[in-house]
Amino acid sequence: MSILDQLHTLTQEAEASLAGVADLAALTAWKSCYIGKSGSLTRLSRGLGALPAEERPAAGQRVNQVREALDAAFAAAEERLKAAAQASELAAEQLDVTMPGRVPALGYVHLTNQVLRQVEEIFGEMGFQVTESPEVELDANNFSLLNFADDHPARDMQDTFYVETPVDGPAVLLRTHTSPGQMRVMRERAPEPLRILLPGKVYRNEQVTVRSEMMFHQFEFLAVGRNITMGDLKGTLAYFAERMYGPGTKVRLRPSFFPFTEPSAEMDVSCFLCGGEGCRICKHAGWLEIGGCGMVHPTVLRNGGYDPTTFSGFAGGFGPERIAMLKYGINDIRLFYGGDARFVEMFG
Ligand code: DAH
Repeated sequence: MSILDQLHTLTQEAEASLAGVADLAALTAWKSCYIGKSGSLTRLSRGLGALPAEERPAAGQRVNQVREALDAAFAAAEERLKAAAQASELAAEQLDVTMPGRVPALGYVHLTNQVLRQVEEIFGEMGFQVTESPEVELDANNFSLLNFADDHPARDMQDTFYVETPVDGPAVLLRTHTSPGQMRVMRERAPEPLRILLPGKVYRNEQVTVRSEMMFHQFEFLAVGRNITMGDLKGTLAYFAERMYGPGTKVRLRPSFFPFTEPSAEMDVSCFLCGGEGCRICKHAGWLEIGGCGMVHPTVLRNGGYDPTTFSGFAGGFGPERIAMLKYGINDIRLFYGGDARFVEMFG
C-alpha cells in the first residue's frame, strides 16, 4: 500500500474512532494512539525518508495535512467533551428551588398554658389584672394569715413541702395553693379596690396517681371593694363558665368550707358534653365540679389591710389541668408533666 493510501486509511480509522469517544479519558487514549509521539501518524511519517526523492514532497505535505486535520478534530472533540463534563457537573449540583423545604420542628404552647391564657383573657374582659406571686412562700401567707389556725385540721387537706430554714427563722414552704398571693396583693395595695388574677404552680406532697401530681397549677381570682356581694361572685362565675364552656353553661354553688372564705362554696358547671342530661364525663350527675370559691373571710380582709366593716370581697381558686382534663377527656394527670412531647403536640 502506498504511503498516501496508508494516510487515507489512517485518517478514516482515526475519524471513525473519534466519533465513538465519549469522555476525556478515552480522548487521551485516542490521542496517543493516532497523533501522539509514538502514535500511528508519527510512525507513518518516519517512513517518508525511505521514499524516492520525487515522491517525498507530496507525501510530506499530505502527512502535514493529515496531522493538522487530526489535531483540529482532537481540539474540537476536547472542547465538546469538556463542555459536556462541566454541564453534567452543574446538573449534579443543581438545586430545585421549587422543592418544598424541610419544615423545622416547632415548639407548642403546653395545654396548661393554653387554658391559662384563655382564663386570663376571660377574666381580663371583666377587668381582672394578671399578677404573679412567689412559689416559695412564707408559711404565714400560705396558712396563718389565711385564717388557718396552727392546729387547724384544714392544714391536713394539703400535704406540704417545707423548705429548710434556720430554727429561729420564719417557716418557708412551697405554696400549696395560689391563695397566699391574695395576702401579698392585699398588703401591697390596701385600701385600693382590687380585681386580681393569680395564675401559677402549686406543690403538694402527695402520692402521684392518675388523679394527683406533686406539682400542678391553679389560678386564683380575687375582687375586693365596697358593696361586693355573693351576687357579684355568681355573676363572675356565670360569665366565666359561658366563655370557657360555651353559651348556655349553667353555674351551681354548693356549700363548702375553706378557712379563708365565709360563706364558702364549690362551683359546679352544667356538663358541657350532655348539657345536664347525664353522661360518662359528668358520671351521670349532669354537673362538673370545677373548684372552690367564696366571700373573703373578714379576718383575711383585716390581715390584708382592709377594714371588713367597709370592704368585702370574693375569691376562688380553680385548677387549669382539671379544666383541660374535663374538656378533652384526659384521664391521667401524669400526662401533663411526664415529658412526652407527643402529648404537647396533640394539643399544639
Ligand atoms: N385554695 C383552695 C385550694 O387550693 C381553693 C380555693 C377555695 C381558693 C376557695 C379560693 C377560695 O380563693 O375562695 O383548695
